[in-house]
Parts: sequence; C-alpha cells; structure tokens
Amino acid sequence: MSTLKTTATGYVGYRGREGHYAFLLHRITGLGTVLFLVIHVIDIALVYFYPAGFLDALSVYQSTIFGIGEIALVFCVFFHGINGLRIAVSDMFLPKSWSIESARKTTRFTLIATLVLWLPATFIMVRNILIHNYGMFGG
Ligand code: HEM
Ligand code: HEM
Repeated sequence: MSTLKTTATGYVGYRGREGHYAFLLHRITGLGTVLFLVIHVIDIALVYFYPAGFLDALSVYQSTIFGIGEIALVFCVFFHGINGLRIAVSDMFLPKSWSIESARKTTRFTLIATLVLWLPATFIMVRNILIHNYGMFGG
C-alpha cells in the first residue's frame, strides 16, 4: 500500500513541466493503447467464433461514448508513437546532446505534431458521430 502511495505522490508531485508531463502522458497513452488492443483483438476474433456478436460490437462502436473513446484512442496512438520515436532517437543517436532545455523543446514539438495530426482526424470523427447518432449533415 505504501508503495502505491509513494508512486501516486511521485507521479503528481515530481518536478512538473514538459519532461514530467511527457513521461506521464507516454505511460497513460501506452496503457490506453494496450487496453484498446486487448478489446480489439477479442472483438476481431468474434468474426470467427461468433459472427452475430461481431455485428453487435460494431453497432456498439457507433455509439457516442465509443466515438469519444475512439477520439481519445487516436490521440493516444499519435502521441505515444511520435513521443516514442523522440525518445528512441534521443537515446540511440543523440545521447550526448541531451539537455533539459533540448528535451523541453522536442517535447513541445511532439505535442504540436500530435495536435496537427489529431485535430483533422478528430474533426472527421466528431462529424461521423453527429451524422450517425444525431441525424446532422444529412445523416
Ligand atoms: C478505430 C481504429 C481501428 C479500426 C476500425 C480497426 C479495425 C480492424 C479490423 C477490421 C481488423 C481485421 C482485419 C482483417 O483481419 O482483415 C483489425 C485487425 C487488427 N488490428 Fe485494428 N483497427 C483499429 C485500430 C487499431 C490499433 C490502434 C491497433 C494497434 C494498437 C490495431 C491492431 C490490430 C491488430 C493487432 C489486428 C489483428 C488482430 C487479429 O488478427 O486477431 N488496430 N483491425
Ligand atoms: C510507433 C510505435 C511505437 C513507438 C515508437 C513506441 C515507443 C516506445 C518507447 C521508446 C517506450 C519506452 C519509453 C521510455 O522508456 O521512456 C515505450 C513504452 C511503452 N509503450 Fe510504446 N511505442 C509504440 C507503440 C506502442 C503500442 C502500439 C503500444 C500498446 C499496444 C505501446 C505500449 C507501450 C507501453 C505500455 C509502454 C510502457 C510505458 C511506461 O513504462 O511508462 N507502445 N514505447
């Protein structure tokens, strides 16, 4: 229990700023993607084991709450992928030029690149939710 408390207070109370938040976000987005992947492999397996259940799953995925989950998933995948590449490049090729300042700069760049990819995808996904679930835009 005390280990859990130490971890939780460490997560919240560490130095703050870009490096700390990038670490937390990388962990949350990695675990978010793993969670999705488990559900995803089970639902794809339904095609073989229980096809009618697969169709049920597809209609559940069209609901608004899963639509919002999908928007979060796309953020997780983009952020985790780009930030993971940033960490790998820095660790493998540029370990000597690492500094707090350069890490802050590349973290800001990571976030901007994530938003540049995520926002247009989010626009399309929100539009789909409005079309399928609220009859807007001719849906
Ligand atoms: C909302 C986004 C996604 C949709 C609509 C989607 C859809 C699909 C579909 C239709 C298949 C079956 C393909 C086939 O067998 O012909 C599949 C398989 C698979 N997808 Fe996705 N996918 C999505 C996101 C992801 C993400 C983000 C990952 C990785 C983190 C992923 C990993 C996989 C894997 C590993 C399989 C193979 C599963 C198996 O054969 O049991 N997918 N996906
Ligand atoms: C473009 C693809 C990906 C890249 C470049 C990437 C890169 C990385 C890197 C470099 C780390 C270690 C971070 C560190 O030690 O500071 C990491 C951790 C992790 N990754 Fe990925 N990853 C990718 C895809 C995925 C996917 C698809 C999943 C989930 C299915 C995933 C789940 C995780 C988890 C759970 C961790 C541990 C996080 C932690 O310990 O805080 N990653 N990833």
